[in-house]
Amino acid sequence: MKFSKLLLTTAIGGVATLGFSVGSADAKGKLNYYCSAQEDWCQLMARGFEKETGIKVNMSRKSSGETFAQIKAESRNPKGDVWWGGTGDPHLQAAEEGLTTPYKSAMRAELADWSLNQARSAGDKTIGIYSGALGYGYNENVLKKNSLPVPACWKDLLKPAYKGHVQMANPNSSGTAYTTLATIVQIFGEAEGFEFMKGLHKNINQYTKSGSAPIKAAARGENTIGIVFLHDAVKQAVKGFPIKSVAPCEGTGYEIGSMSIIKGARNLEEAKMFYDFALRADIQSQAVTVKAFQVPSNKGAKTSPKAPKLSSIKLINYDFKKYGSSVERKRLLKKWDDEVKSLAK
Ligand code: F6P
Repeated sequence: MKFSKLLLTTAIGGVATLGFSVGSADAKGKLNYYCSAQEDWCQLMARGFEKETGIKVNMSRKSSGETFAQIKAESRNPKGDVWWGGTGDPHLQAAEEGLTTPYKSAMRAELADWSLNQARSAGDKTIGIYSGALGYGYNENVLKKNSLPVPACWKDLLKPAYKGHVQMANPNSSGTAYTTLATIVQIFGEAEGFEFMKGLHKNINQYTKSGSAPIKAAARGENTIGIVFLHDAVKQAVKGFPIKSVAPCEGTGYEIGSMSIIKGARNLEEAKMFYDFALRADIQSQAVTVKAFQVPSNKGAKTSPKAPKLSSIKLINYDFKKYGSSVERKRLLKKWDDEVKSLAK
């Protein structure tokens, strides 16, 4: 991040987004906050918490897989307190590997079942804060300019006509892309699913680090089709870009965006306060002010009419227990690295 941007950020919101020190005597009244949702929503949460409590928030925004790797690398000397946002699979893996700690918030009575199920399956070491369906979006102007057909299914993305026109993130760093890999394996079975990923690889122009980058590139006209969560495609359309969303015809997976308290958090009380704050209906309802169109986990929170309607999408019965397990996530990522990423195009 450029220094000028940091200054601007701190001037507006008082939220530092660069390196911070922990473990010192002045650590009280601070929160070291790892965020894996979209940057503007991360900032909104940080500023809101800071304003309400006076607790200084030091924020670091990274993709889901990257944040998991960071928390694991720091586990002997934890630097973060709370991890908010990002896909549920790496949060579940962190719970299983003992990197996060249980907490039962009094706010649980207000939460949807899918949020609580996530908590129950992880011994209360994580909880669902939002959900959203996977799919893809395309820039209709770029599609037309290249005389490409309108895609409707996952398998359409394998057509040779789309060579160089599809972008997705790397599933090692990105929770969106890991959800894509796990979704394809669940829809087609592992053998056919990996054949699909190899076929898709031929059409991929770039594997990005962040999950939403492919649709931002499409919005700018620098890419045609981005495999993303549908709420990220809707966000670009609402911002006025010529982006259309597709819920693939074969069905699709979804995420339970999650939150966890890091084991050994030095600011545990502040982390619990943030956790309770993040589960409140009024706080979750603010997401729409930054065009975040995920479905909130608090049953009393407002959902925008622009948000993708999960009830009208053919959702698979995504197996969070299996695909969020340490063994399976490691195995699938290694197999993707070995058999897909390394392939020549
Ligand atoms: O941009 C928001 C979002 O799609 C969240 O819904 C999701 O949890 C997160 O980004 C995943 O980001 P990444 O793929 O970069 O880990």
